[in-house]
Amino acid sequence: MLPKELRESLKDHIANIDHPRELAVDVMFTLQDHYGYLSDEAVKEAAELLEMTPLEVDEIATFYTFVYREPVGKYVIHVCDSVICWMDGYESIKDCLCTKLAINVGETTADGLFTLLPVCCIGYCDMSPAMLINRKVYGHLNPEKIDSILEKLKAEA
Ligand code: FES
Repeated sequence: MLPKELRESLKDHIANIDHPRELAVDVMFTLQDHYGYLSDEAVKEAAELLEMTPLEVDEIATFYTFVYREPVGKYVIHVCDSVICWMDGYESIKDCLCTKLAINVGETTADGLFTLLPVCCIGYCDMSPAMLINRKVYGHLNPEKIDSILEKLKAEA
């Protein structure tokens, strides 16, 4: 259950627009930030707030790459597998991440720190190969840079 203050703030925000579903994605991100992912319970809460059915919320949630319907790690790595990054070494970057994290794409590390997911072009083709970690972009990737990024995040965790 959302804290009362957060729930009331969302309700106020929703009350100020004509069509609550316009805020569906914002509400889902807010719940996801609070719970860590958009659980079934969170879908029901979002549906109630937005005056939608849970199925309608789920249909929107599953459309968005950055809405997570399964638990994810503290850091979610989205590695770009679209054409420019692919031409600039996506395969070796993906393999490097899989090796260093000891997981495959779609998995979370045993310590719950990292989830590795693919993503379509994130608009940073000029920095390819690129990836996002918790919505922050990292580009011009190579194995040394990946090492340094992962070590820094582990130290901050
Ligand atoms: S193709 Fe990877 S950022 Fe555009």
